[in-house]
Amino acid sequence: MTKKVAVIGPGALGCLFAARFAHCGIRTWLIDYLPERAAMLTKTGITVEGTTTLQREQLTVTTSFPAGLDLIVVLTKAYATGGLALPPDTPVLTLQNGLGNAEKLALMVGSANVLAGATSEAVTWLDVGCVRHVAPGATIFGAWTTCDTDTPMFLLQKAGFDAAVTEAPGSVIWEKAAINAGINPLTALLNVPNGVLLQRQETRQLMRDLVVEATKVAGAEGYRFGHSLVERAEQVCENTRDNISSMLQDVRKGKRTEIEAISGEILRRGQEALLPTPRTRVVYQLVRALERV
Ligand code: PAF
Repeated sequence: MTKKVAVIGPGALGCLFAARFAHCGIRTWLIDYLPERAAMLTKTGITVEGTTTLQREQLTVTTSFPAGLDLIVVLTKAYATGGLALPPDTPVLTLQNGLGNAEKLALMVGSANVLAGATSEAVTWLDVGCVRHVAPGATIFGAWTTCDTDTPMFLLQKAGFDAAVTEAPGSVIWEKAAINAGINPLTALLNVPNGVLLQRQETRQLMRDLVVEATKVAGAEGYRFGHSLVERAEQVCENTRDNISSMLQDVRKGKRTEIEAISGEILRRGQEALLPTPRTRVVYQLVRALERV
């Protein structure tokens, strides 16, 4: 029987995931909270250029969920998670940036329906329904508590994603958040592509320090990593050197950023654990100030 998937959020990643699901024959809905944009996207389809090339991929873009979905993939900005109205008894996979999304979804739909993880697919938003797939990357996810992972894994692999299941989704989310905490605020504040952070001694050191602060807070929550997150952040910076980080994309569009779910959460969790995070505090305050400019 044909599987049914809904992707929430017509941003850069949402467009890539929805277009790829639709292209491989999975019945796909892209959920947008704006009815006019949804109607327009249903007509125009989704165009992806770059590593993935899809011209005007047709799928239904709508404000509401159809019945009988096999999977919902949440790819909205982290600040929108709490406002989602999700159907009951449907597996929900969050691949959003930042900390706290899975916990919020678990309160909304029950933890047994939640899958969580992170994706390293690098995508740049070009225009409404039109994105550039800059570089492929792994998508790692797992059950938040007891949700079945077989069908989501089948669907992601069918759509050609490099997907893997982990027993420790919290760790994967923390790792991505720590890397984002190093890269995103600095690229947004300096208005530079990711790779530039490695070229200047000051930014390279500051990025390292931010990742170390995040790693210490993760440690206070019981997360241990078998590798250096500082080295991982530098690798990501190098691999995505020409990429404009999602936070800088938001700043350039004059949109709210995900600073609260990234540096803000690290700051708050650090305070709870009585761990000082002075550099995280400064970049958090500066990005918040930038959002208001
Ligand atoms: O948020 C982003 O832009 C991405 O997670 C990353 C890894 C920083 C690459 O641009």
